[in-house]
Amino acid sequence: MKIHTWEKAFLAAGATVLVACAGALVYATFGMDIHLPGAHARIDPQAVMTTPPFDQPGVRPLADGRVEAVVIGSAWRFEPAEIRVPAGVEIVFIATTTDVVHGFNIEGTRLNMMLVPGQVSRNTYTFSEPGEYLLICHEYCGLGHHMMAGRVIVVPAGDVGERDVATGHVAKVH
Ligand code: CUA
Repeated sequence: MKIHTWEKAFLAAGATVLVACAGALVYATFGMDIHLPGAHARIDPQAVMTTPPFDQPGVRPLADGRVEAVVIGSAWRFEPAEIRVPAGVEIVFIATTTDVVHGFNIEGTRLNMMLVPGQVSRNTYTFSEPGEYLLICHEYCGLGHHMMAGRVIVVPAGDVGERDVATGHVAKVH
């Protein structure tokens, strides 16, 4: 079979793009540790406010040295709207919604989750530097969607705690 020169060239170009894309996918998964956040657990969406850990949203230290941030999305706010976490420590974000589908996207990071009624979303992230990050809902959720935002304030390791105790956001270490 004779293959035209141009056809060969386009086949080669197509194959190169395919291999490059597959390589990028493998690199993102294993090199950059980017994964799709899946459903971590189920929850009764009617009983979010009384189901641990969502009965005490906020930031708390975990026994293994990591820090847990429990966040509830609802039309049209995040609770807590201000999340203070330490830099250099792995933060375990655990979030859900009490009503419709919301998004959970922390600007400038790979943290990008959907909050689906009845589902607990979980993802981890380590902020290398102190700073302030915008938390936005990036799933259209109704009239107030564009106003649904929060702040993640990353403080030097060791600085988190007192203020969160003051706002009642730190529960027991568990
Ligand atoms: Cu919540 Cu958009």
